Amino acid sequence: MAGVTDSVFRRIILRMGGCGLVSTEMTNAASVSPKALKRHHLLDFYPEERPLTMQLSGNEPDLVAFAAASVEQLGADIIDINCGCPSPKVTGGGHGSALLKDLPKLGQVLRAVKAAVNVPVTLKFRAGWDEARLNFLETAKIAEDAGIAALALHPRTKEQAYKGQADWSRVAAVKQHVGIPVIGSGDVADAMDALIRLRDSGADGVMIGRAAMENPWIFMQIAQLRSGVPMFEPTPADKLAFLQTYVDLCLAEMPERLALNKLKQMIGQFAVGLPGSASVRASVHRSSSVDNARKALEQFFDPYMVAVV
Ligand SMILES: Cc1cc2nc3c(=O)[nH]c(=O)nc-3n(C[C@H](O)[C@H](O)[C@H](O)COP(=O)(O)O)c2cc1C
Repeated sequence: MAGVTDSVFRRIILRMGGCGLVSTEMTNAASVSPKALKRHHLLDFYPEERPLTMQLSGNEPDLVAFAAASVEQLGADIIDINCGCPSPKVTGGGHGSALLKDLPKLGQVLRAVKAAVNVPVTLKFRAGWDEARLNFLETAKIAEDAGIAALALHPRTKEQAYKGQADWSRVAAVKQHVGIPVIGSGDVADAMDALIRLRDSGADGVMIGRAAMENPWIFMQIAQLRSGVPMFEPTPADKLAFLQTYVDLCLAEMPERLALNKLKQMIGQFAVGLPGSASVRASVHRSSSVDNARKALEQFFDPYMVAVV
């Protein structure tokens, strides 16, 4: 997730266990020069994150292929092409879900990337541009024919953005239509929901986005539920500890101003499941330093810290 799944977030999730694969944030294929990498840091990673997917966006076959070869050199274990981002800034340049309106171009991009690298190439895509132009089956087939190793479908349209619900029957239909692994993405809310969606769609995997910001323990909980061991339920103390570790790791990687912004972004979703979430969100957002934000968090969690004798 752009703005979220940086190296700090990926490492904190992976350390908890249960998550099989993480991805970098989407990176524009035109921004992988050594100079650009130093500026945006989107493809920075630690060896403990591997296997790691690096996701690229772009619509010029030669440029995306060149970028793919460059990120393979950086250490990408999988290269994913984004054909799903609905943001007007991205689609305006013909990237992301705009490729759903030009499938021959998408095929060219995928074939060029495939020819340029040795690591597996995967595709993340949406169901179509809008309900009148659903083309997820055709897109999936084009990708399979181009030698793509696996697909991840977020079964909303570009027009839907994040509105309505992800229609997982489309994930099931893609799974029936192609012979390569299919991963479903969209609205997985908790561990049980993940297993139900896996079973009902026949998908080979689930991809979890927003729920991991609200409940970073979700991957661990899925693994526990699958293997029949009691599911870890984080206490308020665990939640506070998570936020503190998160901000500590951010401070180790970036200036305080950026670390504070990261915490502000994280608390927006993380606070969803907490009673009184609006107040903690507001006080973290008002904070002008990490120390102030930490104090606001400690104050918020204090009443829930029951002493265990
Ligand atoms: C803040 C945010 C950033 C996202 N950035 C990306 C991205 O960079 N690449 C991508 O393939 N999908 C991105 N997505 C889409 C998610 O991967 C996922 O398909 C979508 O959110 C639905 O899944 P969810 O309900 O589990 O969040 C993003 C979603 C959100 C909310």
